[in-house]
Amino acid sequence: MKVALKIWRYDSATGDRALKEYEIDAPDWATLLDCLDIVKDRHDGSLSFRKSCRMMICGSCGMRMDGAAVLACKTRMYDIAQAGRVPVISAMGNLPILKDLVVDMDPFWSKFKAMWPWLEPGYDRPEDGREYRISQQRMNVVHKESLCINCGCCVSECNAMESDPEFLGPQALAKGMRFVGDPRDAATVERLERYNSEHGVWDCTRCYFCNERCPKGVDPRDAIAKLGAESIRLGIDRDMGAKHAKWFVRSSETTGWLREEELIPKTQGYVSAIKQLKFGYSLAKHGKVRPVPIPHTAKDVNEARNLRKLVREQDRGGALGHVQGEHALAKLEHGHAGESLEEIYARPGAAPRPWLPEVEEEPSA
Ligand code: SF4
Ligand code: SF4
Ligand code: FES
Repeated sequence: MKVALKIWRYDSATGDRALKEYEIDAPDWATLLDCLDIVKDRHDGSLSFRKSCRMMICGSCGMRMDGAAVLACKTRMYDIAQAGRVPVISAMGNLPILKDLVVDMDPFWSKFKAMWPWLEPGYDRPEDGREYRISQQRMNVVHKESLCINCGCCVSECNAMESDPEFLGPQALAKGMRFVGDPRDAATVERLERYNSEHGVWDCTRCYFCNERCPKGVDPRDAIAKLGAESIRLGIDRDMGAKHAKWFVRSSETTGWLREEELIPKTQGYVSAIKQLKFGYSLAKHGKVRPVPIPHTAKDVNEARNLRKLVREQDRGGALGHVQGEHALAKLEHGHAGESLEEIYARPGAAPRPWLPEVEEEPSA
């Protein structure tokens, strides 16, 4: 097949930058990486890019195609070539470009190291001398995070890193969750204290681009959500982001609404709220504040309370809740053609169910 590519070339010695077009003959099965090999071998030996395994394992060949991060060895070119598209290939984002498609990975690795990416063993070996075995349920918590190949595609797309290069970022935080969720690790609290510092867990904007672009299905944003949930479960909640999340839950549980008037004092503290009175007055002038902020309880508030009760009853606080929720959604989305809803919900682990138990007593405000 004929493949046409436009490649952003960059010479770090001179700062010269140019978009060059190449037309090549490639086999129908060629990936983007195969095409780049052909360009380098037969058309322009000065083109620079990274590769090693050619089979989505080493994480070397991250780059952008038409502005979105991809693994070059995972990207088949047949459909693109047949459609007559000429994709633009460029280096990954959020990392300094050294040459052409090669970026400087030093900032990536220094954040990786800051996560303490090793196990701090702290478990009792079974008395019979056999190995310590982890339950499937506990492994599920870190299964996705263990799939990371450190390619940097998520970092390339991260909006929070674009505005704050110090942000730990999706790959480092996913790696952190891989150890926080490991029952053999003895440093959970120390880790979470570390990850909750400035530029950490709560600085993620929840844009979900990292989930969308990760070529291995790690879902780093979900890992960050699990870190947040574990932090709150263990009482590491001094960050404003944690207080914000807690207030959302509290507010929905007590009245079924988000009580925005109370959001600032509850998350930023009363001193900060008083400092923002001028802003509040301006909001009130424009009709954005209710004149008498008496909490109004929603008619169906019991649904919110029951959800909370269910989480407690099923012991799904922290990261465990996230994993089970994902599994439930996956089960609903895939692979049960011909089954009734009752049959689907009867499957092991298929929570949350569509019905909820009634709450007897009112939770205290
Ligand atoms: S969801 Fe968070 S970590 Fe992921 S890309 Fe967006 S800002 Fe970055
Ligand atoms: S989380 Fe996914 S995109 Fe990010 S480095 Fe790991 S494998 Fe690559
Ligand atoms: S060359 Fe190893 S992941 Fe692409």
